[in-house]
Amino acid sequence: MRLGLLRESAPSENRVALVPDGVETMVQHGCDVLVERGAGSGAGIDDGSYSRVGASIVDATEIGSADVIVSVRDLPAGFGPDSAADPALAFVGVLDPLWMPQRAQRHAADGTSAFSMDLVPRITRAQTMDVLSSMGTVAGYESVLLAASRLPQMFPLMMTAAGTLAPARVLVLGAGVAGLQAIATSRRLGAVVEGYDVRPAAVEQIRSMGARAVELDLAEAGAGAAGAEDAGGYARAQSDDVASRQQELLAPYVAGSDVVITTAAIPGRASPLLVTAEMVDAMAPGSVVIDLASERGGNCALSQSDVEVDRDGVTVLAPTDLVSRCARHASQMFSRNLVEFLCHLAPDGEIDIRADDEILAAMLVAHGGDVVHSGVAAALDSRGGTPEPAAGG
Ligand code: NAI
Repeated sequence: MRLGLLRESAPSENRVALVPDGVETMVQHGCDVLVERGAGSGAGIDDGSYSRVGASIVDATEIGSADVIVSVRDLPAGFGPDSAADPALAFVGVLDPLWMPQRAQRHAADGTSAFSMDLVPRITRAQTMDVLSSMGTVAGYESVLLAASRLPQMFPLMMTAAGTLAPARVLVLGAGVAGLQAIATSRRLGAVVEGYDVRPAAVEQIRSMGARAVELDLAEAGAGAAGAEDAGGYARAQSDDVASRQQELLAPYVAGSDVVITTAAIPGRASPLLVTAEMVDAMAPGSVVIDLASERGGNCALSQSDVEVDRDGVTVLAPTDLVSRCARHASQMFSRNLVEFLCHLAPDGEIDIRADDEILAAMLVAHGGDVVHSGVAAALDSRGGTPEPAAGG
């Protein structure tokens, strides 16, 4: 199997899908590995580190001849399978195809078998391939560092000769992987932290990170505890009544916080609006809101992706490149997840797409010229896809 590692084309993307350690594992697994020149430069990895573990350093055009192409994000526009390439060419990367189903459609049109790493099933057997958890961990950590650097005060309680400095009050909304990491990082920096999630199971997880769990009574608005979570452990979208009651009940918590970090997401759907403009208006000047959900509309009404918004002294940030800012560790984690997946896809060194394999079936979005994932096909039917952002993913 010839494996091609692409250099990422999006301008703000510093990650690389395989680090040299991962390439070495794939070489030992029997693969010929082609690495696009400069692929690791954003993450501080030079070409020599790849060639020393057995990879060939090539130009982008040569990557097209690989059997399997890997990258963090989707292929750059215009990068199709080489006419001389094996028709079984496969692509593995993060396509976010439930939100951007047209990407799967493009791979189907190219005749590529495309696997989306963000569709890895949340089952124990696939935990080592779970890039969402890996990237969520990095994003949660980085969001706190960003907030701490922008807040005009320190995070910990300090008793100094110049007086006592109160600790920062941090509120984290959405306590999945990123939110729990944001809680843990804020606690390590000494902040007083509160966390909230719509899933009842999150209460104990928030407490175990050392934060106070905010619990809202949404029953009156029509929410039942069982209805907050689907069979896969993900949050369900809330009704309009529940969503507005949630905002109303969250308002005093937001107003009393120096930092609000929002991470709430629902797979394949727009992000829930948790923080309205009025709620931001009630925060003290100097406070900071970090919205990690802006790529799907955002959790804060004022957030604009990668634009700094100043609302009467409250800073609202919605960075989409947080994970890329920590490219070395993010790439190391991504690479480990990807190697686990590739070894599962090609257990004997050649691609073997087993129709009855739970992991492969969950992640395969395009195959044999068709979009083969039912959720992605449904997304295409219902809205034909959201326009592609300029950055390409
Ligand atoms: P995510 O990125 O899809 O969403 C982030 C968080 O936002 C979730 O905790 C979700 O409940 C919350 N949320 C959604 N709507 C909300 C609202 N209206 N108000 C407040 N919070 C809201 O989540 P992530 O991080 O991907 O985790 C999803 C689930 O997967 C969690 O239950 C997590 O424990 C589970 N998981 C399981 C793994 C496994 O291998 N078994 C590995 C990693 C996560």
